Amino acid sequence: MSHKHIDIDKVMSELTLEEKISLVGGKDFWCTRDIPRLGVPSAMMCDGPTGLRKSVDSASGNVTSVPATCFPTAVVLASTWNRAMVEKVGKAIGKECRAENVSLLLAPGNNIKRSPLCGRNFEYYSEDPYAAGQLAGAYVKGVQSEGVGATLKHYCANNQEAFRFSINELIDERTLREIYLAAFESIVKEAQPWSIMACYNRVNNEYVVSSRHMLTDVLRGEFGFKGFVVSDWGAVSDRGASVNAGMDLEMPGTGGATSKRLLDLAKEGKLNMKELDVCARRILEFVNRAAETLSRGAPKWDVDAHHGLAREAAAEGIVLLKNEHAVLPLHASKKIAVIGEFAEKPRYQGGGSSFVNATKASGALEELKKLVPTLQYAAGYATGATKHDEALRAKAVEVAAGCDAAVVFIGLSDADESEGFDRAHMRLPEHHNALVEAVAAANKHTVVVLTNASAVEMPWASKVQAIVEAYLPGQAGGLAVADVLMGKVNPSGKLSESFPKRLEDTSAYLSFPGTVTTTTYSDGVYVGYRCYDKRRMDVLFPFGHGLSYTTFEYSAPRVAKAAYVDNEAVHAEVTVTNTGKMAGSEVVQLYVRDVLSSIDRPAKELKGFEKVHLAPGESKTVKFTLDRRAFAYYDVARKDWVVEEGDFELLFGSSSRDVRGAVHVKVSPAAVEPLPHFDVNTPIGVMLAHPATAHFRDDFVPDFEKMNISEGLKTMEMEQIKYQALRRRVSFSNGEVDWDWLDGKVAEMNKAIAASKAR
Ligand code: BGC
Repeated sequence: MSHKHIDIDKVMSELTLEEKISLVGGKDFWCTRDIPRLGVPSAMMCDGPTGLRKSVDSASGNVTSVPATCFPTAVVLASTWNRAMVEKVGKAIGKECRAENVSLLLAPGNNIKRSPLCGRNFEYYSEDPYAAGQLAGAYVKGVQSEGVGATLKHYCANNQEAFRFSINELIDERTLREIYLAAFESIVKEAQPWSIMACYNRVNNEYVVSSRHMLTDVLRGEFGFKGFVVSDWGAVSDRGASVNAGMDLEMPGTGGATSKRLLDLAKEGKLNMKELDVCARRILEFVNRAAETLSRGAPKWDVDAHHGLAREAAAEGIVLLKNEHAVLPLHASKKIAVIGEFAEKPRYQGGGSSFVNATKASGALEELKKLVPTLQYAAGYATGATKHDEALRAKAVEVAAGCDAAVVFIGLSDADESEGFDRAHMRLPEHHNALVEAVAAANKHTVVVLTNASAVEMPWASKVQAIVEAYLPGQAGGLAVADVLMGKVNPSGKLSESFPKRLEDTSAYLSFPGTVTTTTYSDGVYVGYRCYDKRRMDVLFPFGHGLSYTTFEYSAPRVAKAAYVDNEAVHAEVTVTNTGKMAGSEVVQLYVRDVLSSIDRPAKELKGFEKVHLAPGESKTVKFTLDRRAFAYYDVARKDWVVEEGDFELLFGSSSRDVRGAVHVKVSPAAVEPLPHFDVNTPIGVMLAHPATAHFRDDFVPDFEKMNISEGLKTMEMEQIKYQALRRRVSFSNGEVDWDWLDGKVAEMNKAIAASKAR
């Protein structure tokens, strides 16, 4: 294989039209097209987020892949809230790619978890764009530190699997910017992934693969993306349009079908040759980057060391949801019952394109048996069974009744959740729920360990003493679960998604998944905790929640000064002390609340987090720096991010619902912003509410006081007139004033606003 740098300008000048066309499509399922005549090699890309999935037969979509470490799924990585740990995992995966001469990893997935039902939530990071951007961004940095490209996917708003090839998602501009594009934007700006994968779905009436607005204007023009765009596999229906949009590489190769179509378009003069050149050049740039790494040779990697890292990462991402009477950690000297076949045969990864052929896999049972010699095990159910088995359950109850504590492993199966379809509900299998109820009735020290990809309902939550959310923790997940149960690791994972009480409470409930063709994101920016907080709704477990075996105390938070201009960094800090007896880590979360806003905003939004490790009795000061974006909202009229002058509250919490301290800062915009512009359609109420224009009242509002009408009617008339437009004055004055008069008044108002400092 040649790993030589090619002279891109020279190659571009020598490529025939046919060759250029062939370059912008795959050679096969996983490789770019080589052009031996000009010394252009082919470069290889592979899935995926949880580890390397390189097909044994690389030309096809063959599902058998080379052995690789199956690291914890993205939901677990995100629950670590530890950028350094996620970066380490990314780096290890990057190394495994290099060992197999793979130049581009088709990961991370980073769509927002709009609904807990999305079948691919295990591959995604969070319901919150800041958390998602920070943590998936760390993964990108890790992979790319090895000289292997990361592919941030699926750009954008691929938030459901149902109808993913056809769905048109109608998302208002502010929501798109603040929620669905924000994580992509921050990762592009902070980590520059080599590639971005354009999604299957449509956004606002256009397939993203064919949208020049999304791929060129926003992604490149506004966010500054420098790499190349690859289509999701089979996402392209109109290659001509997608070339024009800036969609560089169609994957997989279509065996010449697309080339033929593009050639026909070119002959008819309907192919944009300039854009074709741009796409071809970007592929060559990628091939050169790939060659640079390949020329360094394939490194060796240590299977056991990577298994160890997978264990460490999983143990840090497992979330202790509940722990009453300190039932956990378990004591090895006690009689412990382990129940549930998941303990023996773990389900540790999700289904679909991210499926890894793990180098090995460890169940929790195996490890627990080593640590607790008297452990008793009962399967309770058979994995894969959909119905209750009386004999297995009776045995489980008997075993639980005879022990000091019972740990029940339950959860969802591959058939319940995967890429390619969404869940229809949030329930666990009925027979698993029934098993928990039966065991909890027999042993009051019952602990539940959950295997699942996303939030589930827990009807038995109040009847058990502890709940451990293990999610899909990768090939070493069983070891990590044992580490947490036995206290070898003090849990420090926190939920990066909310666990609502019922599906009906979720923001997307009324519009997920929509029809075959359309869904409207009627929940707007109120996704996840933004919805539950705004509606003051109880949740089962809130965003950011996760317990420890130790306790942490927060000092009163401090800010460097009380007032800032928005081009200055805001510095804030809080001191955290480990007040318990065990060393442990706390994730300090910083939420920002706009105290008074002219537009409707979430009650608070995550804008910072830091994970800090503390020995018993130890204190550390955790520092945060916030930039203007932390205070801004996306203003659709201005097409820009705007900070409104005023008070903001910085809330420091151990979870989104466990705020330990708050401090106020005043922030004012530095530049004089383009100001709101009144026109003849501006509501009279808006004019009255604005301090610079309130004095125009007499020109527009009749003097109801002087009218001989009841007090009630006066109030009613006044309320109604607020919603009428300024033009009312001409429409209803019967010639008393005319349009020129109105235009003059509007101009005076705009002048008054410009002269005032208020917005
Ligand atoms: C998935 C992508 C994946 C690709 C290649 C698609 O179906 O949506 O995430 O990278 O297949 O396997």
